[in-house]
Amino acid sequence: MSAQIMDGKAVAKSIREGLKEEVDRLKKEDIYPGLAVVLVGDNPASMIYVKNKGEACRAAGIYSEEHRLPEDTKESELLELINRLNNDPRIHGILVQLPLPSHIDKDRVLKSISPEKDVDGFHEINMGRLLTGQEGLVPCTPLGIMKLLEYYHIPVEGRFAVVVGRSNIVGKPVAMMLLQRNATVTICHTRTRNMTETCRMADILIAAAGKPGMITGDMIKDGAVVIDVGINRSDMGKLIGDVDFESVSKKAGWITPVPGGVGPMTIAMLLYNTVKAAKCPKSRYPT
Ligand code: GUN
Repeated sequence: MSAQIMDGKAVAKSIREGLKEEVDRLKKEDIYPGLAVVLVGDNPASMIYVKNKGEACRAAGIYSEEHRLPEDTKESELLELINRLNNDPRIHGILVQLPLPSHIDKDRVLKSISPEKDVDGFHEINMGRLLTGQEGLVPCTPLGIMKLLEYYHIPVEGRFAVVVGRSNIVGKPVAMMLLQRNATVTICHTRTRNMTETCRMADILIAAAGKPGMITGDMIKDGAVVIDVGINRSDMGKLIGDVDFESVSKKAGWITPVPGGVGPMTIAMLLYNTVKAAKCPKSRYPT
């Protein structure tokens, strides 16, 4: 069997076009969606991500501003900026690019973002809403994965889903979203003992461990849906996922490529969340 490709690039493009039309409609109602992206330091990967996010906003007609702060910025200065953005009516979404320098308390910073503007969905209030099945802003990569499954009409209800990785950004929230859609969900991590056997049971396998090529063909059930969240650089500078595409694509029914799978969906969902935040009056998300 040779897996069918889930083309995240094409799906993201069509979502972004739809969002652009929605932004044009909102502008006629005097709503101009706006995103502020905050970057502390000069991590090269983060600088590329931030640039791409800004460009994607502009292409969709979303106002965007970038705040680049030096590596030695004090936590209090960052909190001050966020407070200003929380109170800026032009800004509907605030994204603080991670990782932050080690002298800054990431949790304190994420908590300082107004939950209504938390387009990353990392605030504990939005995480709590996701856990309890309430409406809120949810993390972009997991949301992008769910949209991909939806786009390709892949059934989730009653399916056995295995998530490899337990990060707050991907593993935990995607597990909650799959559960919300009535999948039976197992999360595997570094201390999991029977990783191969568990993965082999998966109808839907989400690889979000950050370990290049760790999911191999022998870990896949025939016809499984395999979503690769990994973005790793090989020694040659090539982008590689957590999934060994060569062996896995021979057994899976569906697979996402790297690049061109989940990555483009994440940016599309950032725009989606920004538009959603712009449409929701503050009262919709009581804190
Ligand atoms: N760094 C890596 N991924 C992300 C993300 O999704 N959001 C933010 N804010 N920082 C990141």
